[in-house]
Amino acid sequence: MIVPIESRRYLAKTISEVQASIYARKTVKIRGWVAKKRALKGKIFLLIRDSTGVIQTVTASDDKAWPEATQITTESSCMIKGKIVRDPRAPGGYELKVSKIEIIGLAETWPIARDTSPDFLRGIRHLSLRRQREQAIMKIRSGVIGGFHEYFRTKGYFEHQSPSFTPTPGESGAETFEVKYFGKKAYLTQTWQLYAEMMIPVLEKIYTVAPSFRSDKSMTSRHLTEFWHAEVETAWQEFPELLDTMEGVVRFICKKIAREYRSELALLGKDWKYFATLPKFPRITYREAIIELREAGFKTKFGDDLGTKEERFLVDKRKLPLFITHYPTKLKAFYMKRDPDDPEQVLASDLMIPGIGELIGSSERSLDFKDVKKRLKLAKEDPKKYEFYFDLSRYGKVPHSGFGMGIERLVMWLTGSDSVKDCIAFPRTPTRFAP
Ligand code: 4AD
Ligand code: MG
Repeated sequence: MIVPIESRRYLAKTISEVQASIYARKTVKIRGWVAKKRALKGKIFLLIRDSTGVIQTVTASDDKAWPEATQITTESSCMIKGKIVRDPRAPGGYELKVSKIEIIGLAETWPIARDTSPDFLRGIRHLSLRRQREQAIMKIRSGVIGGFHEYFRTKGYFEHQSPSFTPTPGESGAETFEVKYFGKKAYLTQTWQLYAEMMIPVLEKIYTVAPSFRSDKSMTSRHLTEFWHAEVETAWQEFPELLDTMEGVVRFICKKIAREYRSELALLGKDWKYFATLPKFPRITYREAIIELREAGFKTKFGDDLGTKEERFLVDKRKLPLFITHYPTKLKAFYMKRDPDDPEQVLASDLMIPGIGELIGSSERSLDFKDVKKRLKLAKEDPKKYEFYFDLSRYGKVPHSGFGMGIERLVMWLTGSDSVKDCIAFPRTPTRFAP
């Protein structure tokens, strides 16, 4: 194969390749960025980072590369040639004895030095993302989304995309973003669900991973105005199997991360074994949850919504994901199916995760569009805008169910992050939409 001269210059091994012992004592070329520069007793140590890892390089004052080693700055991009030597003290177990440094992009003075407060770092997120911790979180995020696709594709699901501009809010109760749409009012989607349901007679088993928008002003550690929503809708699937589907995918993703992102988990101080060996997720009803809360001294009454404090109490003491099922109908969205044994509750479940609270909202869907209309009116929605949705029950309805999971919340749990804002590259919140 003929390699163009221009690209030949940049051919190099990745740092993780170099750290595989087969390159020991060989001369290799790597490329990346200077994560840290240190001078000590006539030597310059550069910690070089690429997307696969970090390696320490060492240049002595009598080496040919000394002038470049002196000139290079933190976060400069470079190509470095050198010999790989084993050094158990170095990160990754190997060190590169430098013979040549080519500076590709000499960096100006790196602004992240002393001030590492979360607010400062978020203000320069485009730069702070380069830090090791942030890099590890972004890798795990990619693994989580990859795992979601993998799980449903291997189970015969199709990927379906719903529009982002919608004529109705979609998820009553949640705050909407209204947008001008050529003289009319449209909304940014809060969920793919209503359109997904209309795809049930077409594809039967579908999923998506896409952004959803909520103009929620609450500045909590678990809310974004734009979050990534992993949603699934399954024809002929009733409530008990829905719970198994949700448990199945969450367990699959946890195991995948435990297996494939072990060094990232270690860097973040998380124990991969916990995620690899999760026992069956406990399941309790809303009614049982209220009893448990009251016994613990909470004032929550039957019919009250569960807030973060209540959710966290129930899930944190179990140290495991927890399903809460059969919520009161009046607390939940218009599209949820009433329990035939008790119409005052719905066949719905939220999955809670430790330290965070709600990860997933789910339900079997109502096929009684007269009742759905009534509930839309109660939610102060105009049923006329939903005629297209009612056609689903008019023309060949089948039982179906589905759920929506917040990607950032799952990443927050897996990585032990303090906030969902740290679990997406460029978070959108009521006070920040730049960089
Ligand atoms: O519980 P929600 O509102 O459910 C729905 O939107 C359903 N239509 C989903 C479905 O059945 N297809 O949202 C689902 C999940 C929540 O459990 C939460 O993890 C996440 O989406 N979520 C948010 N994540 C970050 N920031 C926000 N503002 C979020 N709002 C919801
Ligand atoms: Mg919910």
